[in-house]
Amino acid sequence: MIDTLKINIERVAKSRLSEVDFSNIPFGKNFTDHMFLADYRDGEWKNLHIIPYGYMPVSPATPAIHYGQSIFEGMKAHRGPTGETLVFRPADNWKRMNISAARMCMPLIPEDLFMDSLSTLIDLDRQWIPDTEGSSLYIRPFMFSADEYIGIRPSQDFTFMIILSPAGPYYAAPVKVKIETHYTRAVAGGTGYAKAGGNYGGAIYPAKLAQEKGYHQLIWTDGKNHEYIEESGTMNVMFVINDTLVTPALSDSILAGITRDSVLTLARHWGMKVAERKIAVKEIIEGIEDGTVTEAFGVGTAATIAPIELIGHEGKDYVLPPVESRKFSTKVYQELDAIKRGTMPDPFGWIARM
Ligand code: COI
Repeated sequence: MIDTLKINIERVAKSRLSEVDFSNIPFGKNFTDHMFLADYRDGEWKNLHIIPYGYMPVSPATPAIHYGQSIFEGMKAHRGPTGETLVFRPADNWKRMNISAARMCMPLIPEDLFMDSLSTLIDLDRQWIPDTEGSSLYIRPFMFSADEYIGIRPSQDFTFMIILSPAGPYYAAPVKVKIETHYTRAVAGGTGYAKAGGNYGGAIYPAKLAQEKGYHQLIWTDGKNHEYIEESGTMNVMFVINDTLVTPALSDSILAGITRDSVLTLARHWGMKVAERKIAVKEIIEGIEDGTVTEAFGVGTAATIAPIELIGHEGKDYVLPPVESRKFSTKVYQELDAIKRGTMPDPFGWIARM
């Protein structure tokens, strides 16, 4: 709890809403009229305010720029059948943000600060929620060190912000992924389980090499022997093997995805066999070849349920069965989407109305 939960609001003089072509909203390119900011100074959160979205002054000496002391979250909001705003599992994102904050030596964000700033900002910009199939209002909370100091030490000053972006799906078509067996995203004892900016920055180069060979993304493997599958950087990965839903067990080198948890929860609710365990690369390659791996897909907030069309490994491509034949991932995409949009009951209490 913070005592002074008063958010000062400066509204835009004129909304930019009419300038955006909602029939073409690629992921991550358009931002709503307003943004939220809070400062952490002298050991407490203060100066909560919402201002027009735009550039902002940051010290050139801030450790966030030099040393990557920054963390973020991703959430989605949809407009429900009666016009209300439905946000998917925001309390889980708040909890995960604090797990990341602890790992990156940053202050925790009180739940009321996270929730109230989110609902106030969303309320101001609710007209920006897209209604088109596959689209949503993507919510990006983030925090960065704001000290003016280029030595390495735990920072004292921080900024917490939220920006909003009307967006279509992250992957517009089934994805081609390459199993990465040279570069490493995360290792035991590292920051892989945190949503820390640097985890993503370090992944860009290996992903670019794969993209040059025609893949959309990588599947990361363990940093020790590159024997076991971990995650895909923009999403967790899942497989249907002999009718069982299988995904890598969580560890400190894998992000605990909220969509991952939602898909596992739905599968268990439907009575499907589920296994969270180590998955050897060899098992997947052999399983695609002998037909026991019938589905492969990524799961993430931005990616939603992203069918994997083929997996590249050591110079060879292994093609999965056609997307139309995939019963589980199709059903889970449809039901999760319907829960998020409020057109199906929400038995797990995932939706927050704002
Ligand atoms: C999300 O799914 O919200 C993410 O943060 C992935 C991001 C790299 C686009």
